[in-house]
Amino acid sequence: MSVLTAADVEAAGGPLQLRAGQRLTPLARDRAKELGVEIIEAGMEAKVSADNISARQPTTTRTSRPATVTPPLTATAQAVTNSASMTTRPFAPLVSGAMYRRNSLGPMGKAGKATTIRRGRAGVVGAGHVGAMAALRLAECDLFDHVALVDVVPGLAAGLALDMWHGAGLYGFATTLSGSEDLAELAGCDYIIITAGKPRQPGMTRTDLTVGNAAIMKSVCEGIRRHAPEATLVVVSNPLEEMTHLAAEYTGFPQQRVLGMAGVLDSARFCSLVGLTGKARPQEVRALALGSHGPEMVIPLSQAFVGTSPIEKVLDAASLAAIIERTRESGGEVVKLLKKGSAYFSPAESAVSMVRIMASGSDEVIAACVRPSGAYGLADARVGLPVRLDRRGLREVVQLQLRPDELKALKEASARLAQRIGELAQLPSRPEPAGAAMASG
Ligand SMILES: NC(=O)c1ccc[n+]([C@@H]2O[C@H](COP(=O)([O-])OP(=O)(O)OC[C@H]3O[C@@H](n4cnc5c(N)ncnc54)[C@H](O)[C@@H]3O)[C@@H](O)[C@H]2O)c1
Repeated sequence: MSVLTAADVEAAGGPLQLRAGQRLTPLARDRAKELGVEIIEAGMEAKVSADNISARQPTTTRTSRPATVTPPLTATAQAVTNSASMTTRPFAPLVSGAMYRRNSLGPMGKAGKATTIRRGRAGVVGAGHVGAMAALRLAECDLFDHVALVDVVPGLAAGLALDMWHGAGLYGFATTLSGSEDLAELAGCDYIIITAGKPRQPGMTRTDLTVGNAAIMKSVCEGIRRHAPEATLVVVSNPLEEMTHLAAEYTGFPQQRVLGMAGVLDSARFCSLVGLTGKARPQEVRALALGSHGPEMVIPLSQAFVGTSPIEKVLDAASLAAIIERTRESGGEVVKLLKKGSAYFSPAESAVSMVRIMASGSDEVIAACVRPSGAYGLADARVGLPVRLDRRGLREVVQLQLRPDELKALKEASARLAQRIGELAQLPSRPEPAGAAMASG
């Protein structure tokens, strides 16, 4: 028997035919799923696609097979920003980040031959807790040629980037890293995660951060506009909806290229808390946290599942209400325990997931903070909605069949957010109209 590894999958350049006696490592199967490489089992007529195992999507265009997703939603998924009507398609778990496990063969493979699938640049602004972790996870994905990290603190980003690169052989990635105080380091970035800004301290609300972080966002966005005008932004800085709005205003980028990260994290928190009941593992749970990254968070139970079972058939109403409440408070719970700063492992992974989904062309439905542009009849602010992304950012807002009470809660959340975003006009660093050329870019 011989064993094929992830490196063999990467080198396949198309469907990988297993011969009699050949086996794939679990990691190699993961890698095949990530790349959309079809595995043809020895002696089997039918092609066995990696996607038969899960709903993950190809990261390259090596296969033309359409996206498959696992079914349980009752929702009619319909594009709102795109008039093409969609078939009923549920959302599916996120693209795996487990591309290379520790001590496994890295992207150079056993033949020592670099693969050619890495392309483009990703950037992270703010090399604090979330930003540093995000940069490392972006590098670990091994999807990009280069990851650039920027922070105002002299030497911080450069030092962290060098430290991460020192571990490249151990982690198993070949994505290079650099760090700088200068936003020019972001030149040529396709995706930029913005984490610059103060985190909450115990007793603070996210809204308490508005004035300080708005000023930071302004200077960061001016630099991005100058040095990386084609980038797609994933905003992490809080308060999330306000900062996402300001990022769009300060850069003048099209709405499709400015996304806020909160829904991926809040959905993940909900799934993990369901996991604590012992009724399901977190990865078996699917749910979408919509509305705001805060008190107006809406988790529609009509769209939540454990495997293929509606979650309301698995857990009683009181348990679910308690889990939703704890999800809303999860960020604060971590802040209270840490006593200094806020959560960063799961936030960093959530932001990186969004980049990975875009870079890989995945079809899955996730929650992201976007401008509704008429979807769900919502106020035209920023709000967490179910979306599909493409390589450039927002592809479409997905119209789910929400129950009347869920839709009402979403509308209330959107109205509150519209009010808070309206109040940004009072800021000392309020946005000036961006250049017309940028707005059309
Ligand atoms: N959206 C979410 O779900 C979510 C989750 C966690 C944290 N956050 C937010 O993310 C932000 C970062 O959190 P953190 O824990 O990494 O904070 P942190 O203090 O550890 O890091 C912030 C970094 O930003 C840098 N910075 C400040 N101004 C800058 C500028 N003009 N240019 C470049 N860098 C600049 C700081 O030097 C610091 O290193 C906070 O606003 C926090 O509230 C959001």
